[in-house]
Amino acid sequence: MQAIKANGYTVIFNNEGYIELNKQILENKYSKLFIIVDSNTNEVCLPKLLPLIESNCPIEIIEFEAGEINKNIETCVQIWKVLTDLGADRKSLIINIGGGVVTDLGGFVASTFKRGIDFINIPTTLLSMVDASIGGKTGIDLGNLKNQIGVINNPKLVVIDSDFLETLPQIEMRSGLAEILKHGLICDKIYWKQFLDLSTLNFDDIDAIIFDSIKIKNEIVMQDPKELGIRKALNFGHTLGHAIESYFMENPTKKNLLHGEAIAIGMVLESFISRVKNLISKEEYLEIKATIKSIFEEVVFDEKDIHSILNLLIHDKKNENGTIKFVLLDGIGNYIINQNVENEVIISSFEDYKL
Ligand SMILES: NC(=O)c1ccc[n+]([C@@H]2O[C@H](COP(=O)([O-])OP(=O)(O)OC[C@H]3O[C@@H](n4cnc5c(N)ncnc54)[C@H](O)[C@@H]3O)[C@@H](O)[C@H]2O)c1
Repeated sequence: MQAIKANGYTVIFNNEGYIELNKQILENKYSKLFIIVDSNTNEVCLPKLLPLIESNCPIEIIEFEAGEINKNIETCVQIWKVLTDLGADRKSLIINIGGGVVTDLGGFVASTFKRGIDFINIPTTLLSMVDASIGGKTGIDLGNLKNQIGVINNPKLVVIDSDFLETLPQIEMRSGLAEILKHGLICDKIYWKQFLDLSTLNFDDIDAIIFDSIKIKNEIVMQDPKELGIRKALNFGHTLGHAIESYFMENPTKKNLLHGEAIAIGMVLESFISRVKNLISKEEYLEIKATIKSIFEEVVFDEKDIHSILNLLIHDKKNENGTIKFVLLDGIGNYIINQNVENEVIISSFEDYKL
């Protein structure tokens, strides 16, 4: 599998990735390696990685409890303290091995420790392989508000090894699929079409699916690394998706939604809005809704839920001058950014979702 050139770093697959990892460790003469893991990746992913690292550098493992709930400043403070206690300096390297929570938080910890030290991402969930580990967005949540604190800073390298997916629960695989579907919907109709019936999909092709998805994201990010314009396209499904995710996270009576599960709902709702604005045809909307609803379990929203979710929208980072800006589809495979949407249309998107 060919390497993918990104902004100042490369995404490298399988064995070649580990060769490059060892090369970079050697060439950069790091003083110490710190591997950040969560409680699950410490158990199931680290034992595979450690024997592949060829370095005389001292290696320290830093673990935090798995889960979005821990993607916060308290976890960062604990890790910054451990780094300090273990003598991390500006020539130390952080290797993040885990899902999006580890790569987001570990990248942020590295980007801010002593004004920034090098980090490398080794994503171990489908979602982090195709999305979170790529593109340089690092950050943490503020209470239940998603990704409110963070910086854009690129890793030195991303190593993709789909063997890690062998231990990943099905529900997490599905969550990653949401971002893959998004990449098809905004940029590539042919790529999208292969997911219309998952039973026809050959998961032996997972490397090719991951490769294409990273390429789509990377091409967008390369043109607009700071999200001033077209990078906003990657937020399709996320304006409502993030608000839904936040709402479910803070509400103890609700089942916890995975990131991809929330984004999947957000994509159905924002496709409905695209339909109302005459940007996609009825057939396209029904195709999107049927496909996503066949993969992801339906979630029930009552009036109070919808009202609270609308309130959360005001915190969306994509807001400008108090106006909520949406990314909508302009036909499957195309997008349009900075769209205003009236509250009534958002409410009707929830009503249509349950039909
Ligand atoms: N920075 C970005 O551009 C970007 C893009 C998309 C999503 N994100 C963020 O990514 C996060 C979601 O990432 P995620 O879905 O990977 O969640 P996650 O990191 O919580 O991982 C999901 C679960 O899988 C476990 N796990 C990880 N790898 C495993 C493996 N190989 N085998 C078994 N279990 C494994 C984890 O411990 C966790 O329990 C969210 O915080 C989201 O905001 C960031």
